[in-house]
Amino acid sequence: LKLPPYKNEPFTDFSLPENQSAYREALAYVRSTFGRTYPLVIGSERIETPEKIASVNPSKTSEVIGYTAKARIEDAEKALQVGWDAWQEWKNWSMDARARVLVKAAALLRRRKHQFSALLTLEAGKNWAEADGDTAEAIDFLEYYARQSMKYATAGETYDFPNEENRLQHIPLGVGVSISPWNFPLAIFAGMLAAPIVVGNCVIAKPAEDTGLIAAWIVDLLHEAGLPAGVLTFLPGLGEEVGDYLVKHPKTRFVTFTGSRQVGLMINENAAKVPRGQKWIKRVVLEMGGKDALIVDETADLEEAASAAVASAFGFSGQKCSAMSRLIVVDSVHDELVRRVVEKTKALKVGSGEENAHVTPVVNEESFEKVSRYIEMGKSEGKLLTGGGVDGSVGHFIEPTIFDDVQSGAKIAEEEIFGPVVAVLCARDFDHALELANDTEYGLTGGVFTKKRERIEKARMEFQVGNLYINRKITGALVGVQPFGGFNMSGTDSKAGGPNYLDYFLQLKTVAERF
Ligand code: NAD
Ligand code: ALA
Repeated sequence: LKLPPYKNEPFTDFSLPENQSAYREALAYVRSTFGRTYPLVIGSERIETPEKIASVNPSKTSEVIGYTAKARIEDAEKALQVGWDAWQEWKNWSMDARARVLVKAAALLRRRKHQFSALLTLEAGKNWAEADGDTAEAIDFLEYYARQSMKYATAGETYDFPNEENRLQHIPLGVGVSISPWNFPLAIFAGMLAAPIVVGNCVIAKPAEDTGLIAAWIVDLLHEAGLPAGVLTFLPGLGEEVGDYLVKHPKTRFVTFTGSRQVGLMINENAAKVPRGQKWIKRVVLEMGGKDALIVDETADLEEAASAAVASAFGFSGQKCSAMSRLIVVDSVHDELVRRVVEKTKALKVGSGEENAHVTPVVNEESFEKVSRYIEMGKSEGKLLTGGGVDGSVGHFIEPTIFDDVQSGAKIAEEEIFGPVVAVLCARDFDHALELANDTEYGLTGGVFTKKRERIEKARMEFQVGNLYINRKITGALVGVQPFGGFNMSGTDSKAGGPNYLDYFLQLKTVAERF
């Protein structure tokens, strides 16, 4: 495959009037599609089901965007059969041919970029830049994994032996299930299916219940790009029903999951059991939550640190696994840093994704209730500095909220809230700050603002996170640039968008022939 070198998809500059009007046009287009139902896609069949799943606009909950079918157990069973049938051919496609499908899909997605982003705005409640970032990341995953797959087209490295040919071949695993979350419902959904598919596997993709429409769109686009029927099954349904069924099924070869710690651990346990008729140990890839901390010490540029803290905490209303939910500040700069962070937070506008507010609603009612409960809890665990207001009358709106004087061990300092809520912890010095940052079961992202070289080096060695950021915000990892994945209870550290990610979906076969 001969392609130009990989580069990240540029973000749209929404300060330009032409981009603003193009985005408004795309929003109007998506509105014109409201009310459609997207069926299951199993092989060449489009299957309607008796029950449906509604997608609701989180900014205006009276508005239903559309529906997906709701898969039943019999649909999951059929998906596996169809997947294994399709695999017989797909595994023999050349790596180049499979990669071309991804590159074509990236080209199609680039052409319809604003429409996909506009659907993210309406279905997930993302503001324009957040939605644009999600679409750009999906394009990046397609382009990046297409190029990465080339590494596996040739045999792996082995030493020579006289009168023998020794070859180390990569071969695909078979049919697996990809279970994804709603918070990057395009990028993560697309990345988690593109990676196994490009190296010759078939995938049953189970999107999150809240964001089935954007998943249906990208599945259609991949088929438009030439993906043969059966290689990718679109199976929207309930996690605890079809998701659980597929995880436990003896014919499932691998499970790739991104979502909460609770569900991830359950999947890990279920996939480890060997039901009758299963011939393999299921390969399991888990990307889970975080309780991500940013440390600011007394040498830091406080203005930069405050801006980075606000961007990391409140981008997409804190609904990123990478979001800063703990701000750990060295005592001597605590008051000044917190003053700046609060001032910047107060300037953020809460509103709908469509009107491009800074802080948009949380995704659904369950999330709204959960975050509201943590805010109430925070009032007894810390001092409320700003925010705290919630309004569920039109959409699931929650003000960006900061609690100060939170002690290590408090629930709001330990549990993943997944909303716009920050706990500020005060540290005696840098070493104490690092100790507090590591005082968590999670280990996804983390950051340090300091000018001291020895502290940067110490953080590199001792900050227990998969993605560490120095003197910058802790969100927005770029595919191929900052491979993404966490330590400890944040997952299997499989580094999506990294050079080793495709290994998870391959097995190695050594063939020795004596002449
Ligand atoms: P979730 O765990 O509730 O759901 C994720 C997926 O699992 C959904 O598709 C759901 O239907 C499915 N599911 C639920 N129960 C299941 C079961 N019993 N068996 C099989 N599948 C089941 O997570 P969510 O609310 O969609 O996403 C938010 C979470 O995802 C947060 O914890 C966030 O930190 C995490 N996340 C992690 C990363 C990462 O890269 N580490 C990226 C994005 C999100
Ligand atoms: N990959 C996303 C980020 O880095 C979650 O923010």
